[in-house]
Amino acid sequence: PAPAPAAGPLLGFAAVATSSGDAIVVPAGYSAQIFTPWGSPLFSDSPAWRADGTNTGEEQARQVGDNHDGMSYFPIDGSNEGLLVMNHEYCNYEYLFGAEFMTPWTADKVSKALNAHGVSVLHVKKNGAGRWEVHIGSPYNRRITGKTPMTLTGPAAGDALLRTTADPSGLNVLGTLNNCANGKTLWNTYLTCEENFNGYFATAASPAPTRSAAFVRYGISAGGSGYRWHEHEDRFDYAKEPNEANRFGWVVEINPFEPGSTPKKRTALGRFKHENAEMRLAADKRVVVYMGDDQANDYIYKFVSDGVFDASRGLANGNLLDAGKLYVAKFDAGAASGDFMGVGEWLLLDKAANPTLAADARFATQAEVLIHARLAADAVGATKMDRPEWITTHPQTGEVYCALTNNSGRTTTDEANPRAQNRYGQIVRWREAGDDAAAMTFEWDLFVLAGNPVAYPDRQDLRSGSANVSADNTFNSPDGIGFDGAGRLWIQTDGNFSNSGDYAGQGNNQMLVADPESKEIRRFLVGPSGCEITGLAFSPDYRTMFINVQHPGEAGSHPRAPDASMRGSLSMDEYLAQNPLAFSQWPEAGGGRPRSATVVITKDDGGVVGS
Ligand code: FEO
Ligand code: CA
Ligand code: CA
Ligand code: CA
Repeated sequence: PAPAPAAGPLLGFAAVATSSGDAIVVPAGYSAQIFTPWGSPLFSDSPAWRADGTNTGEEQARQVGDNHDGMSYFPIDGSNEGLLVMNHEYCNYEYLFGAEFMTPWTADKVSKALNAHGVSVLHVKKNGAGRWEVHIGSPYNRRITGKTPMTLTGPAAGDALLRTTADPSGLNVLGTLNNCANGKTLWNTYLTCEENFNGYFATAASPAPTRSAAFVRYGISAGGSGYRWHEHEDRFDYAKEPNEANRFGWVVEINPFEPGSTPKKRTALGRFKHENAEMRLAADKRVVVYMGDDQANDYIYKFVSDGVFDASRGLANGNLLDAGKLYVAKFDAGAASGDFMGVGEWLLLDKAANPTLAADARFATQAEVLIHARLAADAVGATKMDRPEWITTHPQTGEVYCALTNNSGRTTTDEANPRAQNRYGQIVRWREAGDDAAAMTFEWDLFVLAGNPVAYPDRQDLRSGSANVSADNTFNSPDGIGFDGAGRLWIQTDGNFSNSGDYAGQGNNQMLVADPESKEIRRFLVGPSGCEITGLAFSPDYRTMFINVQHPGEAGSHPRAPDASMRGSLSMDEYLAQNPLAFSQWPEAGGGRPRSATVVITKDDGGVVGS
């Protein structure tokens, strides 16, 4: 079915050119307001952010977190006042701490890093001049961090694999980590999704204990990602607490309107490196949640609740997320091969009902299927995708879109993931049978094969991208995607910003808008140096758009950038001493420390953003 027609052309702005500057670029007739950067106050007693990185761990707990990511707006007074709830995915140590940032390595630095993660709930309002402000001191304002008490619910709650020394019940976890993208429920709560949780776990034991197959599959390693939390907190040392890592990698539900409420880790949705959680209602009112596992050659999942949504039950609908079926997607070529479209099916991950899993001794119970969902999905033969990032559904048709960001290591191709060494990514979309989100089969096609006609002018070369990619809109690595109410598809990128070689002419990470029917894609925004663009929320009238600029100035792998290839023989401390804050000064400019921040985008004539 065709999307609902918009009045006038769907895309009404003049495209912006690519840029490698250290600034936000928006179309003519639009304004961008920098909002709530890392370290901003939320509470009446929030300490001032210090530009030299010397705020303590306790101070960080009273400030906005770092690396803003997925976000939702919850109206209080329509489009004038609401709760802006946002994720804080990770941190960059060279910016989080002062000059000698790794030396000495202290318990307070671990505390600060834990408190820079999680979620911020911000009561926001438009002032008399039409500018958005945070209502500092509002009782709604809240920081949820890597230390906040939360509850495990659903089929895996209390399982032996979730019990630790501190929590023999297997029910009570401290904190949420690597809060990547998000979701909003039909009962007005927030979903925050735990992505690369593995990187926080490491061990000081020598030799390191032999890892289980599940630890290997989930990427838990003796060195972790360099966060070094295990040196001060035993729960992050997997030789001491082998089950703590199993308590991360979940979708977490938060009620932003009750600041004292305990967040719930909903285990029925499975454990993997969650990107976002897109909720949709099935024809019979069961709740469906689409989810991507963002790793090269990992999978797309969907959860279908057993019970049905009943608006009159309000928050009690949350229990729908504790009982249901988890499925993983298989994409097949269909009747013709080579046309980038085909058919697909949803494979059930159920210990009792799927004979493959019933016969697999690695899973004693359904709880173990959920805790080790990746292993179960491997066993049933799901399709290995090019890093599933955000999933979104068209507001009128229910058509589902998933950004597959890139997979430069891919060797074996299939029709939905058609390129080896895929550096650019693609967006796949599918239509569920009968347009019912709970259907077991679907038809799919590639909406765009991102590519670079500047670097690869031969349009027969798949690296040049599909027909809707041109030298004017070329981009790599689609990540955040989402529809507005009129059916514009917003596409945000988190990719290579070198602007050279395979990426020549693509500039910094950016945001584009697409018309799902014509497939036209137009560049709307370019971000500052070293950032990714992520997070997408609108006021109900779609006249205010909130996005996030994450990790400006990041030049290597996190949490510590730049990597050894840039430093040469210099140690990290020596390198930064010689190149202080070399990569971005956004948003302060003039030598400031780069900070993740929200950006509020409005049209100067007060119109709908994108129109
Ligand atoms: Fe946190 Fe897959 O991006
Ligand atoms: Ca085909
Ligand atoms: Ca992302
Ligand atoms: Ca990302």
